[in-house]
Amino acid sequence: MTLSKKASCNSHGQDSSYFLGWQEYEKNPYDEVRNPNGIIQMGLAENQLSFDLLESWLAENPDAAAFKRNGESIFRELALFQDYHGLPAFKNAMVQFMAQIRGNKVSFDPNNLVLTAGATSANETLIFCLAEPGEAFLLPTPYYPGFDRDLKWRTGVEIVPIQCTSSNGFRITAPALEEAYQLAQKRNLKVKGVLVTNPSNPLGITLTRQELNLLVNFIDAKGIHLISDEIYSGTAFDSPNFVSIMEVLVNRNYVNTELWNRVHIVYSLSKDLGLPGFRVGAIYSNDHMVVAAATKMSSFGLVSSQTQYLLSAMLSDKKFAESYIVENRRRLKNRHAMLVRGLQRTGIPCLESNAGLFCWVDMRHLLSSKTFEAEMELWKKIVYEVGLNISPGSSCHCVEPGWFRVCFANMSEDTLDLAIQRLTSFVNAISSSENKNRISQNSSKSSRRKLLTKWVFRLSFQDRDRER
Ligand SMILES: Cc1ncc(COP(=O)(O)O)c(C=O)c1O
Repeated sequence: MTLSKKASCNSHGQDSSYFLGWQEYEKNPYDEVRNPNGIIQMGLAENQLSFDLLESWLAENPDAAAFKRNGESIFRELALFQDYHGLPAFKNAMVQFMAQIRGNKVSFDPNNLVLTAGATSANETLIFCLAEPGEAFLLPTPYYPGFDRDLKWRTGVEIVPIQCTSSNGFRITAPALEEAYQLAQKRNLKVKGVLVTNPSNPLGITLTRQELNLLVNFIDAKGIHLISDEIYSGTAFDSPNFVSIMEVLVNRNYVNTELWNRVHIVYSLSKDLGLPGFRVGAIYSNDHMVVAAATKMSSFGLVSSQTQYLLSAMLSDKKFAESYIVENRRRLKNRHAMLVRGLQRTGIPCLESNAGLFCWVDMRHLLSSKTFEAEMELWKKIVYEVGLNISPGSSCHCVEPGWFRVCFANMSEDTLDLAIQRLTSFVNAISSSENKNRISQNSSKSSRRKLLTKWVFRLSFQDRDRER
């Protein structure tokens, strides 16, 4: 055995269909010119809709990316900077941007902010600071597949699901919270907190005030922590507005109480600014001990100084930041509408949503049976035969088979259009096969399969023709 137990243990979740889908995409990626029959990546929550806005700002402010201040080089200063407290100017710009996204209803103190290499690092660091190995955090399902890696793998902490279902639009309820708590106790796991994503990945919905109040009451009653991963806060493109947990605490007069210290926010610029490659994340905590511990830990994943310098200039341009937020939301809203309408025409419903870079799509009616095996069977067809990499609900720990997360902001409008066309042909083939079955009263399951095979054959035939 060459690897340590930690390095080789499978709580990383790499084998999940979420990551396998990415691998399949890598082997055969769609490209309009070079590989028009390739797989379209719809499993990646990237925001590529507003790059032109960032690029225009860069063109107008060349100093920021050229290691310059007022025309003078600060290359050496940036090259040597390694303070794990971060550049003060950048932390100021970050907290102001966070407040701007929340409509300035709350303000944030830069001294309570810890910079990390993305929200991935922020989430792990917080869990590391708050829980011992073998203790647990409760998470509403479905949840972001990366959490199995980020929260569990290196910390040894367990995730216990709070089971949410389509019966109430996957909302968090008091009985579901209590049930999860009891389940953890049955498994002899001490519960240290609840972690939610608001807006939710994969649901694309913002938490309601009722849910937020419920969460506050719950952590109050149990004396535990609440982590609110608000990485998608700037993507809330439709009403109801995004409400941060911090706003609820302020409104309910929890400022400087004991509970105030048990609520922590995770943020990042990966989604709102579409910069996952820059690795800029943050922990915001009201507890100074958590801030101090997390700052020490941030040595393992600092944000490079030139990135901090560039983004502090960009984000402290308040006029730019404000217009970016508004325009980015408008673009996301249009894109979301395009996908929802396209799916609707195909008879595929989505959970009604108002945020995020994806839709939570209901394909239960396309399953051959109400099982996760049938979900995987459908997923494989969609990846290999239809040529779309989407994420099956099971990879997000959804308790109901047949739901899929479909991303819409990481591609051009033409590519999204093609993806919808591919899906439409697929669904039409299934329904026409079902009609024929009904007419000929041949209800054997194998005929559905035969027709599907025919459809796939037809599709590859068309593709070959197109290639010629
Ligand atoms: C809910 C959630 N948290 C954290 C992350 C990780 O983000 P980052 O790229 O900032 O590490 C993601 C990325 O998809 C996410 O969806």
